[in-house]
Amino acid sequence: MNLLLAYTAAPQHATLSSVISTATYLLAALLFVLALKWLSAPTTARRGNIAGQVGMAAAIIGALLHHQIISYEWIIVGFAIGAVIGVPMAIWMPMTAVPQRTALSHAFGALAAALVGTAHYYLFDLKHAPPHAIVMGFLCLEVLLGALTFTGSMMAFGKLQDLLPTRPLTYKNQNIYNLLLLASAIACGVLLMIHPQWMWLFPVLLLLALAFGVLLILPIGGADMPTVISLLNSYAGLSACMMGFVLDNKLLIIAGALDGASGFVLSIIMCKAMNRSFTNVLFGAFGQIQAPAAEAGEKKTVRATSPEEVAGILESARLVIVIPGYGMAVAQAQHKVRELYDQLTRRGVEVKFAIHPVAGRMPGHMNVLLAEAEIPYDKLVEMDEINGEFPQCDVALVIGANDVVNPAARHDKSSPIYGMPIINADQARTVIAIKRSMNPGFAGIENELYTLDHTLMLFGDAKGVVGAVAKELGENGH
Ligand code: TAP
Repeated sequence: MNLLLAYTAAPQHATLSSVISTATYLLAALLFVLALKWLSAPTTARRGNIAGQVGMAAAIIGALLHHQIISYEWIIVGFAIGAVIGVPMAIWMPMTAVPQRTALSHAFGALAAALVGTAHYYLFDLKHAPPHAIVMGFLCLEVLLGALTFTGSMMAFGKLQDLLPTRPLTYKNQNIYNLLLLASAIACGVLLMIHPQWMWLFPVLLLLALAFGVLLILPIGGADMPTVISLLNSYAGLSACMMGFVLDNKLLIIAGALDGASGFVLSIIMCKAMNRSFTNVLFGAFGQIQAPAAEAGEKKTVRATSPEEVAGILESARLVIVIPGYGMAVAQAQHKVRELYDQLTRRGVEVKFAIHPVAGRMPGHMNVLLAEAEIPYDKLVEMDEINGEFPQCDVALVIGANDVVNPAARHDKSSPIYGMPIINADQARTVIAIKRSMNPGFAGIENELYTLDHTLMLFGDAKGVVGAVAKELGENGH
């Protein structure tokens, strides 16, 4: 898409096609802004999605109408290749793989920006009409951000897809070496602004940026990849924005700025929800393998339960709060959760859903799944709002959530998730936790919630066991 839009420079003559092109760009920019607004609430998210798609279609049409395009053959080839890769990805890639799919999209968008910048540089008549220093500055930033985002996103994809080791790979003085590398790339850019004709510097800048992308991601663990992907999204957007300045393309400037700002804001929201700072995410090597918990500690007991017993407990409750997490997404249990919701509400039990901002593996993960199962939006309550209700809650039903309900975050200063706001499931009268084993969650740590006196563990795949509980209630039903 960036490549296609890049064909468009400011029209010199107001031909009919250039007027239509400008009008479609305006429409696209408007729709992008509305899409972002509407996407921020579950009730309007579908509308936002459609607005974004129509906006992108308008942008493509506007770009295709541009008077400087002399042949459509290569554009058609590009479309065909993109469709052959993109359509199967959209249809068959599972919901749980969305973070790595997003990483791939950023990688290709950023690569396009870096390639356009590179092509643009070599098309300058450096001897007779060297570019202005400011243009060179934008171009160098475009290439720097595009290249580092490309390799960084490919690394993020590899880690999330388990093609690369997910644990942080660290070595002595790593951050210093990385900063020196980045400083060298920036120095190349500054020199190119002053001496654009020093052509040998350009590939050096490109290579340094590509290397920096790889080295930036090496020390970051898999657990932080969603936040990093959001940050890389921001870089890709900024790179496209710089390309807009170089090519004098207003739509690229607007869309790139929106992308850059929204990606950055999302990264901040994620960091806040995990009570982590940016520097800790980028340089903290979070997710190092933890030393096993003190062997000396007494062995804690776990009380296992059955779907029949759980059905009985839920049936006699007044308020049940469901806390969904990554396991519900993996098991694709949302439709069974809906069945359970129906069975309970039919009996007059009040059922609410507690939504943690980083439950699952991407922002809004739980909202999307529960909306797919058509659970009413007003039953989905944000963490801060619902936490006060747990002391009055009869059953906290944890479905495949782990880190987001781990009380260690509140009091254990040595825990890697210390300080992360959590859902107060432990304050409910009874806790029922559904998961397959006693294995840890994403942060790789034990969860003391599972060994509390009032906690029952229902072991099994979330889809299977939630279905079994719903079936039990159905069979006992009126
Ligand atoms: P996790 O802590 O990752 O725990 C998920 C649990 O689901 C696991 O303990 C696993 O236990 C269970 N599970 C897996 N497959 C299952 C299945 N088929 N059926 C039943 N249970 C299954 O999840 P969470 O509580 O949602 O926390 C999310 C984590 O991701 C946090 O640490 C958060 O910081 C991190 N993170 C999230 C984001 C975003 S944006 N969401 C971004 C960055 C980081 P078993 O293996 O025993 O079944």
